[in-house]
Amino acid sequence: MQSTYTIGSRTFVLDKAKAEAALAAKRVVGGRETLSFNLLPLRYGWAYELYRTMKANHWEPEDVQMAKDIEQWRDDRALSEIDRWIVRMGVGYFSAAEGIVGDNVIHVVRELVTASELKLVLGRHAHEENIHADSLLYMIASLGIDPHECEAMFDDVPSIVAKNRFVTDVSHALRRDLDMTDPEAVRLLARNIFVFGQCMEGTQFYGLFGMILSLYRQGKLPGIGTMFRYTLRDESNHIELFRRLLSELAAENPGIWTPAFKDELRELMREAVALEQRFIEDCLPVEGVGLSAEDFTQYVDYIADRRLASAGLDPLHHVALENPLPWLAELMDVRKETNFFEGRVTEYQKASSLALVADEEL
Ligand SMILES: [Fe+2]
Ligand SMILES: [Fe+2]
Repeated sequence: MQSTYTIGSRTFVLDKAKAEAALAAKRVVGGRETLSFNLLPLRYGWAYELYRTMKANHWEPEDVQMAKDIEQWRDDRALSEIDRWIVRMGVGYFSAAEGIVGDNVIHVVRELVTASELKLVLGRHAHEENIHADSLLYMIASLGIDPHECEAMFDDVPSIVAKNRFVTDVSHALRRDLDMTDPEAVRLLARNIFVFGQCMEGTQFYGLFGMILSLYRQGKLPGIGTMFRYTLRDESNHIELFRRLLSELAAENPGIWTPAFKDELRELMREAVALEQRFIEDCLPVEGVGLSAEDFTQYVDYIADRRLASAGLDPLHHVALENPLPWLAELMDVRKETNFFEGRVTEYQKASSLALVADEEL
């Protein structure tokens, strides 16, 4: 089918069939290679929707007040030794981890996917990792934590080194020319998407998230707690993005989704959980924040099984685990109304509600 436009003496003929063929050729990987960024027609409508949700959640670290945190940080009676250690481990670990995630998104996943709407949402994902890294810089600078100590943490704390190595090995395995028509290469990418989305962002981030929010719940370090709540809201979208990507990739390449591969992914999750539990013991070597390391290790077991189930994989435990920290679910649910930024966020919301494409067209 063709559309013809005659403007003055010129006639333009547009071939719709070519556009339809381009849509039909969209794939997570191995689709039409193009440098153009034509989003429409959308094949992965969910990716565009998710991009809009992520964009509407935009936040800026500097909008969060740190005065109370600074006051408490300087007051020996306001915070215990363990409270301070949790914060040091939190900023030490996350200032490394946010960068690792963003780097993998940009240099591995966004490089290999071929559909524009997937590149769009992955670009936003990487941008959010920059915001998270920036928020850590803001926390470190506000509290006057020595940045050299943070840097040294990911060389000198063995449980952090091990967590980082687990994910960077998976990322580096893809940093070479790969032939994406080879199922083995597609499987490597699927493993990467699972490890980063479900094991790292989905599970290994949650031990510290829980501890920092536990401090927040006690009225300690409200600025840091607020930033972590906004980070968590973003992370839940990243986990969902990578979950959907994995499921699309498996649906388009059913040959990779074998029982042996599914077992391999479960074993990777088992390893991720063990690494996280070791890390939690380093964060909470003595009881603190009114909780023990055991509460958080159980929480990680619970979260890991949920992630596995959401990826269509069998849980690691045969019985359904209960959430040992039910209050966390409530604190993790950050909605716009509970927002502290008032004016600015309202503006952001307004802007984002001006959808360029009506939902029914997606
Ligand atoms: Fe992040
Ligand atoms: Fe993330």
